[in-house]
Amino acid sequence: MRTSSTYHALGLLGLTVPSLAGVAACSAPKADAITIKTDSKLQKIDGFGFSQAFTRAAEFQAADPQLSKAALDLFFDKKNGAGFSIIRNWIPSSSNYTIEPNSPGSPSSTPQYRWDGWDEGQVWFTKQARSYGVKTIYADAWSAPGFMKTSGDEAKPGFLCGTPGHECASGDWRQAYADYLVQYVEFYKKEGIDITHLGFLNEPDFKPSYSNMQISDNASEAIDFIPILRKTVDHARLDVSLTCCDATGWDKQAEYTKALVAAGMQRDLDVITSHMYSSDATYPLDTILPTWISEAGVETSSGRFVPTWYSTGNVNEGLAWAIKIAKGLVDANLNAYLFWEGFEINQQQSASHLLDTTGPDQKTILPSGIFYAFSMFSRFIRPDAYRVAIEGTDKLADVITAAFQNTDKSVIVVFTNTGAANQSTEILVPPHQAGSSAKAWLTDNDHKIEKTPVEQTRTNGHSSIKVDIPAHSVVTVKFA
Ligand SMILES: *[C@@H]1O[C@H](CO)[C@@H](O)[C@H](O)[C@H]1NC(C)=O
Ligand SMILES: *[C@@H]1O[C@H](CO)[C@@H](O)[C@H](O)[C@H]1NC(C)=O
Ligand SMILES: *[C@@H]1O[C@H](CO)[C@@H](O)[C@H](O)[C@H]1NC(C)=O
Repeated sequence: MRTSSTYHALGLLGLTVPSLAGVAACSAPKADAITIKTDSKLQKIDGFGFSQAFTRAAEFQAADPQLSKAALDLFFDKKNGAGFSIIRNWIPSSSNYTIEPNSPGSPSSTPQYRWDGWDEGQVWFTKQARSYGVKTIYADAWSAPGFMKTSGDEAKPGFLCGTPGHECASGDWRQAYADYLVQYVEFYKKEGIDITHLGFLNEPDFKPSYSNMQISDNASEAIDFIPILRKTVDHARLDVSLTCCDATGWDKQAEYTKALVAAGMQRDLDVITSHMYSSDATYPLDTILPTWISEAGVETSSGRFVPTWYSTGNVNEGLAWAIKIAKGLVDANLNAYLFWEGFEINQQQSASHLLDTTGPDQKTILPSGIFYAFSMFSRFIRPDAYRVAIEGTDKLADVITAAFQNTDKSVIVVFTNTGAANQSTEILVPPHQAGSSAKAWLTDNDHKIEKTPVEQTRTNGHSSIKVDIPAHSVVTVKFA
């Protein structure tokens, strides 16, 4: 595979500073060096991820084994791939795939569940992800089964029957919906898979012609249903985190979150989830719960799938996404960032997936620029890392700087240079990393996660390193 051999070659390039051991010095560090405050703990990082929903997992599973293996390595390998750590599956409500295709007649009748052990390839896909060490499995429903909704159709806008103001002749289906969601988790358990996060809504502020379910702007239906779902999950003794509400955009999710928090929902919920189509994550939400961008993508009208890193700055290019992720982490305190789809075969009319195929018979993987943008964060910032504060970055014009400490104590600094000027910076070696090595990786138009030189310097007795941050690039530095 073209891509994997490229990856292996990259490891040979560049320079490592083997030892930065230094005597502790009392003199002041150089004024314009960046200081990483490893003793500050900002938000915890849950991870980075994507989905293979809407039958894309089945497509992945059915692909030529060599091709699917190459894609899996690119997604999940922590050394040479993106090291993604979260996947988001959909809980299908369409009659073809749902675990409850038919109404049992009334909410109190025994439901007729079915399970094919396949779930459109999502069982296979989840097992593959887990084999690479992925632990965070988010299962999200786009809609309740149609017969539980005011519209009677899973693909037609409607509310869950029994929520405030939404009475149905067929009865109150709230408990039945909670039971159905728990049953889905139980089916996965049977396959040896622990679903860790469960959602009951997807874009409830949007009315497409496919699976969807609505809530009001004041989230009253969610506020009514969440305690029922919490109780049902707890009663089944499942260790599952509950999410809400996967709104179309951050501003909408901010509105829902305000209502959820005011209604005491932080007790029953575990994660606030949002998409970014109608607005990006650019400010923190007012909640004690972790916040995720649980789905992000590119409108079809905004451009095709391209391998481009930077040309015009359009949203189908890589750098545009490095900027979204960096701002999300720094300005919105995001705990996780998930793209929409991962792997698709010959679907370049859309830019909302990370890997496509090319070449004769579509047998070669083609990563998007966006794939590399995610990789510059996701390979290095591992689950349960904390973002930490940094000082002295003000001289770096047009560079977004984000620093993290992993659980193994390694320190990561990601520089996203949004500007047209080359920059260079000096970073003081974090005190407890004295004696460790520093490495740096570069992605721009000419480099794809390539090692880039790190120059060791000493200023006033302090160990520091110097790295170049080329125009329109991302440079990730690791002290380990
Ligand atoms: C569901 O199955 C029907 C008949 O097999 C098929 O025509 C339709 O395309 C399927 N729908 C989806 C969403 O796959
Ligand atoms: C929430 O909004 C809906 C729709 O506008 C309204 O009917 C309902 O009364 C509101 N509920 C509360 C508790 O404010
Ligand atoms: C940035 O540095 C590169 C590599 O040295 C050089 O080719 C390029 O012209 C520089 N760009 C600017 C805007 O100075």
